[in-house]
Amino acid sequence: MTKAIRIHRTGGPEVLEWEAVEVGDPGPGQVCLKQHAAGLNFIDVYHRTGLYPQPLPFTPGVEGAGVVEAVGEGVGDVAVGDRVAYAGPIGGYAETRLIDAERLVKLPDAIAFEQAAAMMLQGMTARMLLRSVHRVESGDTILVHAAAGGVGLILCQWAAALGATVIGTVSTREKADLAKAHGCTHPILYTEQDFVAEVERITGGDKLGVVYDSVGRDTFLRSLDCLRPRGMLVSYGQSSGAVEPFSPNILAAKGSLYLTRPTLFTYTADRADLQESAAELFAMVEAGKVAIEVKQRFPLADAAEAHRALEARETSGSTVLVV
Ligand SMILES: NC(=O)c1ccc[n+]([C@@H]2O[C@H](COP(=O)([O-])OP(=O)(O)OC[C@H]3O[C@@H](n4cnc5c(N)ncnc54)[C@H](OP(=O)(O)O)[C@@H]3O)[C@@H](O)[C@H]2O)c1
Repeated sequence: MTKAIRIHRTGGPEVLEWEAVEVGDPGPGQVCLKQHAAGLNFIDVYHRTGLYPQPLPFTPGVEGAGVVEAVGEGVGDVAVGDRVAYAGPIGGYAETRLIDAERLVKLPDAIAFEQAAAMMLQGMTARMLLRSVHRVESGDTILVHAAAGGVGLILCQWAAALGATVIGTVSTREKADLAKAHGCTHPILYTEQDFVAEVERITGGDKLGVVYDSVGRDTFLRSLDCLRPRGMLVSYGQSSGAVEPFSPNILAAKGSLYLTRPTLFTYTADRADLQESAAELFAMVEAGKVAIEVKQRFPLADAAEAHRALEARETSGSTVLVV
């Protein structure tokens, strides 16, 4: 018998319950993974509240790292004893879990389990945003909302490594300092300053070719105002709440703008894309261009505390749940 966090009804952090669970043997194509750390991500909040519905009951969490304990029939890519990590398949808040082998990537020796659990989802998301969804080039200036967050700090570093100038929004001075130390040249305190006016000032009125918006409801429409004609809004999350429905005519009126709403799960659905994405992330980390610092650690059993902190905007950078 092993333990996991289970959700029997959607709601606040109190619905996260620490329970004994039966894992069973891996089926065809599956492995049994003994986890050393699980990642904390904002999508876990959407699953917990029911914003992204899941069949009940379920174990939340979409990211983890550990050691393969047993393999099912037909598994060839990984073997018992391999150090592996994943981002995607739900069920991560668990000491031990079953998972499809094709969703796993092998971890380089230089990457520790906690570091892997802190970066697989957020790091591959940063790569997707900067390399696939909209290709950022040297000399570009970009806006990253929640720049001191988990995805935010990785985005700032990766974009700076590409030679881009990063403007980033944050809620506190401490987060502004942290973002600045990670490649964000122009942190904006969006709780005090009008970020549209600041973007106009910083760019000398040119505005931007791309805005990365994970905050959603509170920033969405004003993010469009930061774009120059034919610029692209990449809406990839909604930490402040879901974006209200709107007419596409707004995109015309504000300058023939583009809007996309990508998810990493589409961009890594193909195994070759997953492996390429993970390899590029590992290369950035191993080259020292992107530092993954675990800023908060909670015991897995205290996942509710971790959710409270994340939703209260108390966290910065990445958070892991230690098994
Ligand atoms: N599309 C994808 O495939 C994909 C993949 C990964 C993540 N995401 C999205 O990326 C975003 C960042 O995820 P993360 O896990 O790295 O979280 P995070 O950025 O570390 O945490 C969320 C941050 O959002 C900001 N925020 C603004 N208004 C908020 C509000 N009302 N309540 C809570 N937070 C608020 C806070 O930063 P300040 O205090 O500085 O405002 C907070 O720290 C999330 O929206 C997530 O859904 C999307």
